[in-house]
Amino acid sequence: MSKKPSYIGLLNAIANGERDGYELFSAWSNSTSDKLLQPTLNMIAVREMEHSWAFEKRLSELGFSLRRTVNKSLKKQARLLKSKASDEDKFASFGIGLTSDKPQNEVDSLLQILADKSIDPQTGELMGRFISEERDTGRQLAKAFRALKVRNKKCAPES
Ligand SMILES: [Fe+2]
Repeated sequence: MSKKPSYIGLLNAIANGERDGYELFSAWSNSTSDKLLQPTLNMIAVREMEHSWAFEKRLSELGFSLRRTVNKSLKKQARLLKSKASDEDKFASFGIGLTSDKPQNEVDSLLQILADKSIDPQTGELMGRFISEERDTGRQLAKAFRALKVRNKKCAPES
């Protein structure tokens, strides 16, 4: 067999991270009572699981199997997302809505995924799709948060 590709660990880390993401978003999707927010959360949960499977599939095509790691630091967030806490608090657990005007020109850490120049075209294609979908997920979450704020404002008693 040829040399082990340098990016096997990265594929394994993404597959694990996306599996954790699925657990978090499906917990939130199941616990929210907001019928307008729920479809976005469900779409993201499905996306996260599909990413996890796609990266695990690629690992297996390259002759490796997933080494599942458990991220204990997510336990507290998972508990919050399953709870009856407000959706606003749940957005905050992902860092959404904490600062009002975050600069949009931050360094895009997702691009680092493609920094390894030895990545084969098939894996590169998967990574490109993954990066684009993760960015879209960020946009969808920000949009859902803005809509939630507007709904909450309308429901708030006049002062
Ligand atoms: Fe993700």
